[in-house]
Amino acid sequence: MPSVRPFVAKLLPRAGLDWKGLVPAIGRATRALARYDGILHGVPDPAVLLSPLTTQEAVLSSKIEGTQATLGDVLRFEAGEPPASGERREDIREILNYRRALREAERALAKGRFSLSLLKRLHAVLLESVRGRGKTPGEYRRARVWVGEPGTPIEQARFIPPEPARVPALLANLEAYWRAEELDPLVQLALIHAQFEIIHPFRDGNGRIGRMLVPLFLYEKKLLSRPMFYLSQYFDTRRTEYIARLRALNGPASWNTWAAFFLRALAEQADANADKARRILALYERLKARTIELTRSQYAVPLLDRLFARPVFASNDLFRDPKMPTKPVVTLLLQRFRDAGILKRLREASGRRAQVLALAELVNLCEGKKVL
Ligand SMILES: Nc1ncnc2c1ncn2[C@@H]1O[C@H](COP(=O)(O)OP(=O)(O)O)[C@@H](O)[C@H]1O
Ligand SMILES: [Mg+2]
Repeated sequence: MPSVRPFVAKLLPRAGLDWKGLVPAIGRATRALARYDGILHGVPDPAVLLSPLTTQEAVLSSKIEGTQATLGDVLRFEAGEPPASGERREDIREILNYRRALREAERALAKGRFSLSLLKRLHAVLLESVRGRGKTPGEYRRARVWVGEPGTPIEQARFIPPEPARVPALLANLEAYWRAEELDPLVQLALIHAQFEIIHPFRDGNGRIGRMLVPLFLYEKKLLSRPMFYLSQYFDTRRTEYIARLRALNGPASWNTWAAFFLRALAEQADANADKARRILALYERLKARTIELTRSQYAVPLLDRLFARPVFASNDLFRDPKMPTKPVVTLLLQRFRDAGILKRLREASGRRAQVLALAELVNLCEGKKVL
């Protein structure tokens, strides 16, 4: 007989962790994060240069929940291209909301620490869309929810999160634990993510908000100099394992293996992030030298910066940008960039629609494969 009783969540911290056994994994993750942060330090303007990675994180974190839009789809949409379908449009909207929420969190953490009111604000931003409208954005759930195949009844649930009445107390405990000093902050983060998913404070969006907490925590605890860390790729490629490990969380042993799994995820993604950041930086440096040489223009670098921030764009977006030179100058520069193979034309101009251009190499690098 399947049980329909909500899970009785225990408070944090968790007793019974095998701290000694976790030490090697803690060491690996800590060192990998420090290496990645060293690279972050060397990126002149991470908010611009790593912007496509932030978008990619929003894409992958949302993909874990079933959206199908790719980074290319999102970037094309931002350049004014219509999405392939209404469904895709909603996917893209959720992904853009995700990115907005991340940026709002970054701004908030520059001024103060993490709080539950920030948590609610992020949720409101994330679910501000047609799909999210019925999901009480920005508010804790007041009803039972269950995790399972979409559309299945509670009897077939894989997991029934705690009673709604317990949510405020569990979150208050989570917030206190976030602020507390734990033996190791990365294990602390592993527990925070899992406990957040168990609490499932919202009607929807819990997976995404829970993953958003990762860079925020690393930043607030000064493990990173910027709240930029991209973890979702690891969980996306191991979705079944990720979910199974969360589902197994009902005793000290499973919390311990969860912590080990999460530490592995942090270590691997820190290396992967470092590698990508390094390659983006190298691409930037290479193109900077190249475009200055090609154009001998004082606008070469501002234009390049703009291409990194928005690697797919309609050419007339640039004409309206106050930081860009006059239309004839921009047109000439874009032509030079295209002739040199730096920009690729995704769509020809037709009628009143401008051409769509892409810094394809950057998009491919972020995707990890050739998509443009
Ligand atoms: N058995 C489980 N126990 C705890 N958390 C789970 C379990 N199964 C799934 N989850 C978490 O729930 C998330 C999905 O919850 P949901 O509110 O739909 O979030 P989103 O809308 O962002 O998908 C998953 O990404 C995962 O993090
Ligand atoms: Mg969902």
